[in-house]
Amino acid sequence: MSDALKLGIAGLGTVGANVARLIAERGDDLARQCGRPIRVTAVAARDKTKDRGVDLSSVQWFDDPAALARDADIDVFVELMGGAEGAAHVSVKAALARGLHVVTANKALLAAHGVELAALAEDKGVLLNFEAAVAGGIPVIKTMRESLSGNRVSRVYGILNGTCNYILTRMEKEGAAFADVLADAQSLGYAEADPTFDIEGNDTAHKLSLLTALAFGTQVAADDIYLEGISNISQADIRAARELGYRIKLLGVAQRTETGIEQRVHPTMVPVNSVIAQVDGVTNAVAISTDLLGELLLSGPGAGGAATASAVIGDIADIAKSRPGFQHGPVFGRPAAKLEAVQKAPMKAHAGGYFIRLTVEDKTGVFASIARAMADMGISLESIVQHAGASAGKESGKGSAKAVILVTHETTEQAVRNAVARISKDGYLTSTPQVIRIERAA
Ligand code: NAP
Ligand code: HSE
Repeated sequence: MSDALKLGIAGLGTVGANVARLIAERGDDLARQCGRPIRVTAVAARDKTKDRGVDLSSVQWFDDPAALARDADIDVFVELMGGAEGAAHVSVKAALARGLHVVTANKALLAAHGVELAALAEDKGVLLNFEAAVAGGIPVIKTMRESLSGNRVSRVYGILNGTCNYILTRMEKEGAAFADVLADAQSLGYAEADPTFDIEGNDTAHKLSLLTALAFGTQVAADDIYLEGISNISQADIRAARELGYRIKLLGVAQRTETGIEQRVHPTMVPVNSVIAQVDGVTNAVAISTDLLGELLLSGPGAGGAATASAVIGDIADIAKSRPGFQHGPVFGRPAAKLEAVQKAPMKAHAGGYFIRLTVEDKTGVFASIARAMADMGISLESIVQHAGASAGKESGKGSAKAVILVTHETTEQAVRNAVARISKDGYLTSTPQVIRIERAA
């Protein structure tokens, strides 16, 4: 058997500790598959005294991940710390510059520096593998980078954040409170170190930016993404969605349009009978529309130690199996220098259906005024429902308020924004309007 592949792991939290443990426990199987043993020879984390659930007594310890990347006797630097800047960025750059292969689960890092790091890896002839960075255990990166090479992709979209899907599912199925389920997602190891990245949609945007680059051969452009999180989704929205035959999911969507590439992350109404609506809990799903395949849907565990470690170990095994001197393929499926700048489609040109929930004063003429605003902006309504329900009153704090729920036919973002601005000016709203986009979904 050939020499062992030596790993340095920086980060021993939810993901890193699972990777180290599984490599120790499944060493014989991995060695048989890869034709050589895989060994963890160096690690870095902040607290040396913490129990990681795996024996690391014979492994070299580094307090500084960059020192590990520069000095340790390793073949692969495995970055599992997180963060776009600081230790993760510095140490990954140092490892690549030294000519080490890198495996990372860090979508924030790649969203900010993916093209620069890919160029460095390609220049050094090493791999920068990041399967775990998008959709946890689902092998979507390899699928898009390798298996779909001959396809033209028109749209990629999906549920890309396990924490948000877990929260929305439990809010819908159990009527649970947002804050309680977020705390559970954190204790299960799904959430980011700063969970606002999950609930405000940034994590989904980071992942979407990587899928966009793979789908359209463009540079990673996370700052171009239209972003809304789930923190203002209420039980009233979830109930209204159910009544109208929809479920609410946080989707990331990237598609080619006449005006450029549209990238957006927002809570989305998907038809209750679509496959994506059935994707519950921490499960993620990614749908890829191509000219040769129609729609391909991949689904599986999107977060958590074991699922993410599965993807990290797959990336490590690919390196262990690669032949010495073999020219590695480019990180984003085409050379970093050939990735094109994204031509950004303006969000106001987005076309689709919309759900609009208004809480209004219960007085004559309001209903007609709403209908007129919609008609004046050229918006055709699929339905308009009025609820004199207690929920509307409770939410607004006024006993006489009622909810008006509109579902539009296909229209534009600009028309909806204009209509909502006009309704807001008319002076009968008792709370901020809620607007949720509707998506055609698999
Ligand atoms: P985590 O539980 O917070 O673990 C982070 C680890 O990094 C800890 O061991 C921490 O050390 C170490 N660390 C952080 N900053 C450091 C520094 N400056 N120097 C040395 N060590 C440092 O995070 P995680 O959930 O495992 O996530 C790790 C990465 O995987 C992130 O990029 C995340 O986005 C990504 N990811 C996570 C999941 C998931 O389900 N959790 C899924 C996919 C991708 P201490 O333990 O000593 O504090
Ligand atoms: N916090 C992320 C999520 C981890 O909940 O999806 C997986 O990337």
